[in-house]
Amino acid sequence: MMDAFERFGLLINDRVVRTPVGIASMAGIVDASYVLERAGHIGFAFIGGYSIDKKTMDAAQAMTDQGDRKEFLYNDPVEELTTQIEKMAKSTVIQGVNLRGSSPEAFRTIAGALGETVVYEIDAHCRQPAMVAAGCGEHYLKKPDELVAVVRALKKQGVTVSVKIRAGVAADDRMVAQKLWHAGADILHIDLMDFGPAKLRQIRNICPLMLIANNSITGFDKMKDMLSHGADLVSLARQSDVRTLSGLDAAITRFADGAGWYNAPKQLCRGGDIRALTFCCMPVKECPLQPALARMGISKETYMRLKREAVKGTPLESGHQTCFGSLAWCCKISSPCMFRDMTLKQMGLSQKEYMRLKRELSDTLMNGVFHDVPSDERS
Ligand SMILES: Cc1cc2nc3c(=O)[nH]c(=O)nc-3n(C[C@H](O)[C@H](O)[C@H](O)COP(=O)(O)O)c2cc1C
Ligand code: SF4
Ligand code: SF4
Repeated sequence: MMDAFERFGLLINDRVVRTPVGIASMAGIVDASYVLERAGHIGFAFIGGYSIDKKTMDAAQAMTDQGDRKEFLYNDPVEELTTQIEKMAKSTVIQGVNLRGSSPEAFRTIAGALGETVVYEIDAHCRQPAMVAAGCGEHYLKKPDELVAVVRALKKQGVTVSVKIRAGVAADDRMVAQKLWHAGADILHIDLMDFGPAKLRQIRNICPLMLIANNSITGFDKMKDMLSHGADLVSLARQSDVRTLSGLDAAITRFADGAGWYNAPKQLCRGGDIRALTFCCMPVKECPLQPALARMGISKETYMRLKREAVKGTPLESGHQTCFGSLAWCCKISSPCMFRDMTLKQMGLSQKEYMRLKRELSDTLMNGVFHDVPSDERS
């Protein structure tokens, strides 16, 4: 029986995530009790949204007074959040708090008071007019530099930071993602609403942030679609009932145990994201690899060097009977190939183990692409 880290390889806030299924915040609804009732079926949860300064607390009050919104209301956000966090302390669920604040100072103060045990999620998602007028929610997507200032303030406190956004609100989602990555954010939590997995792939291709895909993920097919286009995890809000969550948890666990890579991308030429470089061959023919490398600003030589270095000393280095003399250049297991399969058999490697090694290769390539390739080596 595999353990959760072996199965999914996911760490958040230095803790192993049991399953890549979690709960997204719903103001006035998702608190510690809500999460604890579902704790056996999820890996993470963001409680809230909680307003953390006078402007946003007044906005929450005004929204409640208008009668059409549920909100968490209290006099002291630190006291309320401390109570909620303590209730969840013994759970295996990775805890996050979704916060509405109107200034870097508000976030800094709350992180100073609550410490490092929770993930701090900046609510750059809320579109309620009162909240936006208070200077949070979607306001931040129209003013990305203000959002960056909040991320930086939180990172100075040494905490793990997630940013919740709604796709299609900012002038350029990819630019926002890149700015957040450079500012030190750890997680991007994306409500894809009217956008499909193609939007997710665009963001996956521009930054190495951990990605949580959200919106209408109510069945395994939708979940797998998100995972194969770049998501590391998925979250549910409106349909975060025990039945749906437990079904998704069981299905992805079964799938991971069979396939070896729970969120393997499609091959690049079938619409896969940048992680699919792990399945690409040498750039010797006209195919989608060449334009993809050009878009990333990586030369063919750098691509080949990264791949050769990454497999050195691993089982993927061998494979003289394959097209390019090494399994490093071999296709996804779902593409039938007797040369690759014969090589695996001779080496005593299962298809699942092959995919696990391809995942490791993909991780190393992503590090290379996003961190190690010096700008002067880029074409
Ligand atoms: C009643 C309600 C309250 C919400 N409150 C918040 C919130 O406070 N902060 C936030 O980031 N998102 C909030 N959301 C958005 C959800 O987290 C989620 O992004 C959205 O509902 C789409 O996901 P779903 O299709 O799984 O529900 C709220 C959604 C609902 C329905
Ligand atoms: S190298 Fe192979 S897998 Fe990659 S895009 Fe080209 S044909 Fe597809
Ligand atoms: S040997 Fe098979 S799996 Fe490997 S690159 Fe050639 S066709 Fe693809």
